[in-house]
Amino acid sequence: METKMFKAAEDGTCDEMAEAGRIIRDGGLVAFPTETVYGLGGDAASAQSSEKIYAAKGRPSDNPLIVHIAEFSQLEEIASSVPEAAGKLNDAFWPGPLTMIVNKNDVIPYETTGGLDTVAVRMPSHPVARALIKESGCMIAAPSANTSGRPSPTCAQHVWEDLNGKIDGIIDGGSVDIGLESTIIDLTEDVPTILRPGYITQDMLTEVLGEVRLDPGLQGENTNVRPKAPGMRYKHYAPKGNLKIVTGEEEAVIAKITALAKEAKDSGYSVGILAAEETKDAYNIDGVDVVTIGARDDEDSIARHLFGVLRRFDADQIQVIFSEDFNTPRIGMAIMNRLLKAAAHQVIEA
Ligand code: TXA
Ligand code: MG
Repeated sequence: METKMFKAAEDGTCDEMAEAGRIIRDGGLVAFPTETVYGLGGDAASAQSSEKIYAAKGRPSDNPLIVHIAEFSQLEEIASSVPEAAGKLNDAFWPGPLTMIVNKNDVIPYETTGGLDTVAVRMPSHPVARALIKESGCMIAAPSANTSGRPSPTCAQHVWEDLNGKIDGIIDGGSVDIGLESTIIDLTEDVPTILRPGYITQDMLTEVLGEVRLDPGLQGENTNVRPKAPGMRYKHYAPKGNLKIVTGEEEAVIAKITALAKEAKDSGYSVGILAAEETKDAYNIDGVDVVTIGARDDEDSIARHLFGVLRRFDADQIQVIFSEDFNTPRIGMAIMNRLLKAAAHQVIEA
């Protein structure tokens, strides 16, 4: 299949928006930018469209999709009942990088929800995403537009690398703003529960809802509890090279990474280092690729670049990667959730 490239302007307008909307309505797939990452969109009410999404991504079909809406009334259309908390979160954070899990009625088929009786719903703020939902006349099921297991796409080129020839079109709206997938909050439990950390933090949610807890399955390797969001159970985001995270005091981390990188290089591997703007010049090793992820005093920049730099290590065929940790104050939890998965939880104390 030929994958068409559509170009959107800065303000989100796109000459081919009518065509893109028609493709979705007719059961095809179009990737599009959102404020978090690029999504791979299809008609959420169509079982066949969802099956096509799983096939294009190589994604297990028990891993449910997020339904993207443009109006709050669309949540009422697909939820069996709308919890009070959803109204409060809508007022505070929608449109924006927050996904709510609610109980579903029968408008959205089980193919879209991976067989679950609940449905994940998000109202994105990106003008292209909003225009596409409106133009198509559909609610749009959209997982991140990457091949399953690869880092999520933060620009149209990443989508092209993974899905060219497998989908009908890609709307290129430039690089995304946030760079991490939405926060997911489950409203079907007694206490609202975060299933995936993101740009909207636990503190921000607590301020609106009162008590909010973290899914105990998010604690990684140290627990036997399975994450509730099926997608959080899979190995994810992994670069092809072997990535390890080094933690500790800044100076000790620099010394440790330098020693490990030299050792790996001397053993004949191609080696990369993932560093912050503030520390990148401290590494000075012949033939070792030092990649800057962003500045610690601008943690949003770290989030924005994370997936792109993981992809760059692949493009450069780096076999061994050492990363600083980026446990920054506000969204460090969301950043480290992705980075730890990418590293298969290999952490070295400096
Ligand atoms: O920012 C985002 O959320 C992006 C953009 C495109 O909107 N989308 C995204 O979708 O990250 P995806 O499919 O890559 O991740 C969706 C996550 C998966 O971990 C999935 O298991 C979980 O949401 N999920 C979806 N429906 C669920 C449900 N009913 N219950 C629990 N987890 C659910
Ligand atoms: Mg994904």
